[in-house]
Amino acid sequence: MSAHSLKMNFLEINNLSKIYTVKTFFSEKRFLALDGVSFSLKERESLSIIGSSGSGKTTLGRIIAKILEYDGGEIKFYGKNINDYSRYDFSKIVQMIFQNPYASLNPKLKIKSSLSEALDKNFQADAAEIIGQTLVKVGLESRILNNYPHQFSGGQRQKIAIARALLKNPKLIIADEPFASLDVYSQNQITSIFKDMMKSGVSIILITHDISAARQFAQRMIVMDEGKIVKDDSAENVFKEKENKYIADLISAAEI
Ligand SMILES: Nc1ncnc2c1ncn2[C@@H]1O[C@H](COP(=O)(O)OP(=O)(O)OP(=O)(O)O)[C@@H](O)[C@H]1O
Ligand SMILES: [Mg+2]
Repeated sequence: MSAHSLKMNFLEINNLSKIYTVKTFFSEKRFLALDGVSFSLKERESLSIIGSSGSGKTTLGRIIAKILEYDGGEIKFYGKNINDYSRYDFSKIVQMIFQNPYASLNPKLKIKSSLSEALDKNFQADAAEIIGQTLVKVGLESRILNNYPHQFSGGQRQKIAIARALLKNPKLIIADEPFASLDVYSQNQITSIFKDMMKSGVSIILITHDISAARQFAQRMIVMDEGKIVKDDSAENVFKEKENKYIADLISAAEI
C-alpha cells in the first residue's frame, strides 16, 4: 500500500443534504432532514452519533448504508462515489444493523438459511465452518441454526443480526440504536462484541440515544441537531461542553 492510500480517508462525506417530501391531501411539504453534513472516517476508526429524536441520525445512517437516497452533496468510500459501487461490492463495505433485528432477518427463514444466504457464494463450500466461527464470535451456540427468528429473545435476535452482518466481512458496520430493546445484560454483551469487532479492524458507527453507552463505546462523538452536525470531537470534550446549550442539555439529561 502506498503512503498516499494510507492517508486517504476511508469514508468521506461532503455537504450532504436530504429532503423528505410529505404529501398531504392538498399540498406537498418539503422537510430538510440533513443540512450540509460533512465528516470523514479513517479505516479502522469508529465513532458514535448522538442527538435528540428527529435530529437526522437514522436518516444519515441509512444514506451511508445506501439504503436511502440523498439529495445533495457527496459520499465516497475509498475515494469512490457510493453511487458508482454495485450493490454486491457495496455490501462488502457497509452493513447496517437496525434497532429492530426483525428488519434484518427474514421471519420465514430458519437462522441457518438467513446466515448462509448472507455468505458469499465463493465460501459456500465452507459455510458450516464459517457460520460456526461467526456464532462463537457473537456468543451463540450452533443449535440455534434450526430455529426461526421469533423463537429468540430480543438480545439473541440482535446477536444473530450482527452475525449475519459479520458474514459479509464488511469494513464498516452502522448500528442504529442496537441496544434499544435490550436489557442491560444484553446491552453489555453486544457492546463487548462490538469492541472485539473494532479490535479486529472493523469500523463501527454507533447511532444511539444512550449517551453513556456512546461514551464507553468510542473516542469520537458526533452530535446532531436539526439535520446538522453541531459537534465532532472526542467524547471527553463533548461531555465537557457547557457553551452549546443543546449539547449541555443532552449530556445533563443523560447523567440524571
Ligand atoms: N420517510 C420520511 N418521510 C418524511 N419525514 C421523515 C421520514 N423519515 C424521517 N423523517 C423526518 O426526518 C427527521 C429526522 O428523522 P430521523 O429518523 O433521521 O431522526 P433520528 O435522529 O433518527 O430520530 P430518533 O432518535 O427518534 O430515531 C424527523 O423530523 C422525521 O420526522
Ligand atoms: Mg433514529
